Amino acid sequence: MADTEPAQDGALLEVRDVAVHFGGVKAVDGISMNLQPGRIYGVLGPNGSGKSTLLGAMTRLTPMTRGAFLFEGEDYSRRPARTVHHMGIARTFQTVRLLEDRSVRDNVLLGTDTLGKNSRKEAVARVDEVLERLGIREIERVRPDELSYGMQRRVEFARAIVSRPRLLLLDEPTAGMNTSEREEIGALMRQLLAEGVTQFIVEHDVQMMVDTCDHLYAMNFGKLIAEGAPTEVVRDPAVQEAYLGKAAGRHA
Ligand SMILES: Nc1ncnc2c1ncn2[C@@H]1O[C@H](COP(=O)(O)OP(=O)(O)O)[C@@H](O)[C@H]1O
Ligand SMILES: [Mg+2]
Repeated sequence: MADTEPAQDGALLEVRDVAVHFGGVKAVDGISMNLQPGRIYGVLGPNGSGKSTLLGAMTRLTPMTRGAFLFEGEDYSRRPARTVHHMGIARTFQTVRLLEDRSVRDNVLLGTDTLGKNSRKEAVARVDEVLERLGIREIERVRPDELSYGMQRRVEFARAIVSRPRLLLLDEPTAGMNTSEREEIGALMRQLLAEGVTQFIVEHDVQMMVDTCDHLYAMNFGKLIAEGAPTEVVRDPAVQEAYLGKAAGRHA
């Protein structure tokens, strides 16, 4: 697909034939997507299918081999990673990445860099609001390494949403959480959607994806093998085979 092709109408994020190769490993191998605003998108796929690499490329942390990303029609494929956050894209990582020697509050405050130096007051108020919302206000002085894994994930989530991103990328947001914690995160994602935050989630938990997403993609070996309505995608024979295993396909 030519880089000069006009942007798709109304797309928040357009992914154009993106590939990320690590030597001989084709981690992402020609993915195209069109994310419309105001929806929750999910990507299913077995371990090693390229989901995290795709998120890495989207945020410009991982260099890509070919293709392009357009945010609101603007090609940012050659811009440095730090500019991506300022455009309105925020993310969480598959493995929690927090500053261990700083407080919960300081970690969340780091997410406000997009607000600029003049809005210190606004940043403080926004941090308070987000800490409250995620139920971590009481532990704002605690260091992340003293917290449970589920709590650390909440802090990371808070840091991602504090900037009021228009697109939120979540890499396995409920991994390592118990059922009630998962439900809380699901509820939070739907609340954020109501506030206009488009979301793109990579997850293993099929049930959560079906319950939460408006549209699903399925990946295997760096390529898309299915996309569409969640209940249809999880029933797709190629997805059953790749992701759920043949046995699951037989019993579904
Ligand atoms: N930095 C890297 N260098 C080399 N290979 C990598 C790197 N990151 C990921 N890979 C490989 O790319 C493939 C996709 O990995 P990943 O995107 O983490 O998959 P997923 O998130 O779907 O589990 C795997 O084969 C993995 O080993
Ligand atoms: Mg991953």
